[in-house]
Amino acid sequence: MPSSPKIALEVRGLSIAFVETDGSLEVLDNLSFTVEVNSFVCVIGPSGGGKSTLLRALSGLLTPSAGEIRFPHPSHIGPQTGMVFQKPNLMPWRTLFDNISLPLELAGRSKEEIQQATQEMIDLVGLHGFEKSYPHELSGGMAQRVAIARSLVQDPEILLLDEPFGQLDALTRERMGEELLRIWGERRKTVLMVTHSISEAIYLADRVLVMTRRPAQISLDLPITLPRPRTEEMRYQPEFGRLAQLVHEQLSQNDDAMAMPTKSKVA
Ligand SMILES: Nc1ncnc2c1ncn2[C@@H]1O[C@H](COP(=O)(O)OP(=O)(O)O)[C@@H](O)[C@H]1O
Ligand SMILES: [Mg+2]
Repeated sequence: MPSSPKIALEVRGLSIAFVETDGSLEVLDNLSFTVEVNSFVCVIGPSGGGKSTLLRALSGLLTPSAGEIRFPHPSHIGPQTGMVFQKPNLMPWRTLFDNISLPLELAGRSKEEIQQATQEMIDLVGLHGFEKSYPHELSGGMAQRVAIARSLVQDPEILLLDEPFGQLDALTRERMGEELLRIWGERRKTVLMVTHSISEAIYLADRVLVMTRRPAQISLDLPITLPRPRTEEMRYQPEFGRLAQLVHEQLSQNDDAMAMPTKSKVA
């Protein structure tokens, strides 16, 4: 009998509401899903639908109103999650090396450990030779590589990325996707990434989760069966198109479900 896959993340009945002066804003509504160890999962959904809220809850920055978040195979050394945001949020007065090493400094690691782990990450993201550069000297793509290196330097179990390439031009964005696949392959991480782009989600992921509007539920959990390694040509193959259409249809259905009551109110 094949053994069941190891689960890196288990979300059960997760609800999050923000308390406001005139009531509460329900953002996530009873979400349940699991993510297998070493898999690459993309989350896609409408703006303001609660995707960042979900990642913040997973990284422990927000406490759920209900439900639970479990990491069934916690690592013994590193933190459970590392986070990359849309903006790299680098410290302008620190060099590239010192930006990446910051989490290790804060964790009180030894000088030797810091030197070794930081250099390893710089090499991994392809920034060897730029150690002494400052953030203002870096392109958008390079700055985002620094953010990825910084999120991985403590060797987290799961890498969470919140629209990490949203501010990059189309070509740089595709290159960064390739880079991320390479890094994921080399480090064997579990990845959960929020994106706006249907084709980016399908190109990168093993599974795509489609979220509804607020209060968000998962309306589609789509396995991406395209073989790996993924190649540029796959983007133009019928199977890619079929998957993209499924995600697109689901997103528009979610939109219609929201639009209808509004229309009837106006009528
Ligand atoms: N700390 C907060 N307090 C109150 N409302 C919030 C807070 N954070 C997010 N929200 C609201 O929750 C909703 C979902 O936000 P977010 O998770 O950022 O959506 P997305 O990332 O899908 O665009 C939005 O309406 C946002 O205004
Ligand atoms: Mg967001």
